[in-house]
Amino acid sequence: MDGPSGAGKSTIAKAVADRLGYEYIDTGAMYRAVAYGMVRDGITCEESDRERLASFLGDATVDFREGHVCLNGEDIADRIRTPEISMMASDCSAIGIVREKLVAEQRLMGETKNVILDGRDIGTQVFPDAEFKFYLTADAAERARRRLADLEAAYEKKKADLKAEGLKGKKLKSLLGPAPVFEDVLRDIEQRDWNDMHRDISPLVQAEDAVLIDSTHSTIEETVQAFLDVILRASDDAAAQPCCCGGCGCDCAPENAPGTDKEAAE
Ligand code: DC
Repeated sequence: MDGPSGAGKSTIAKAVADRLGYEYIDTGAMYRAVAYGMVRDGITCEESDRERLASFLGDATVDFREGHVCLNGEDIADRIRTPEISMMASDCSAIGIVREKLVAEQRLMGETKNVILDGRDIGTQVFPDAEFKFYLTADAAERARRRLADLEAAYEKKKADLKAEGLKGKKLKSLLGPAPVFEDVLRDIEQRDWNDMHRDISPLVQAEDAVLIDSTHSTIEETVQAFLDVILRASDDAAAQPCCCGGCGCDCAPENAPGTDKEAAE
């Protein structure tokens, strides 16, 4: 599944994976993990920092434990959703050596099990032969409204936590920072869309054979259902075909195929 920031890819992919018993891989979280490490180690996206970046990537492991993204074994899932890391992830994802490393990891994860991956280049680069491809999008203003609601909830939670620690007045305000504002969130989304769609390597684009789903006016459940309809309809169509025993994954052996001696004997 590919699509722009804030279209709801991870929520939908997770729900569809749950329904189908597949594993969900959030590839954006992998780019965010690299971005987090870069910010922490003071590595920039400038050409002049490329050797430091290569050395950081050479030592880094990015994987998932119980659905949480880990950098070098450390669970950093609750530190990668800030505006700073979002922008850094968008910037570092335009760098070839970052993409090479993460795409290789993603292919390994997807080769041996049933998975749903979401990202920007899954249908075009990572798994061009994927069984199903989707492009999930929504209006930029609607995406910004949804992202704002998440940021506001996080802001209120942080405020309550700080108050519970006894902080108030100026100290509370300075630790809390400014409340999220719609215009800033929309500008960030539009900036990231532009970055993701205009970078030289693997820009965000709908794969030719991907099914387009627009969630602007749909609830989460309606969107999940739209995905399942496509997948289940294709499975029903496949089941309605006569068995071919040509490596289709069924348990028929060639000698059991219709019209063979074995079938006639039975
Ligand atoms: O899905 P997300 O917003 O968490 O992704 C963070 C950034 O990572 C996004 O700006 C683009 C980049 N990304 C990418 O280039 N390729 C992917 N497969 C996934 C994410």
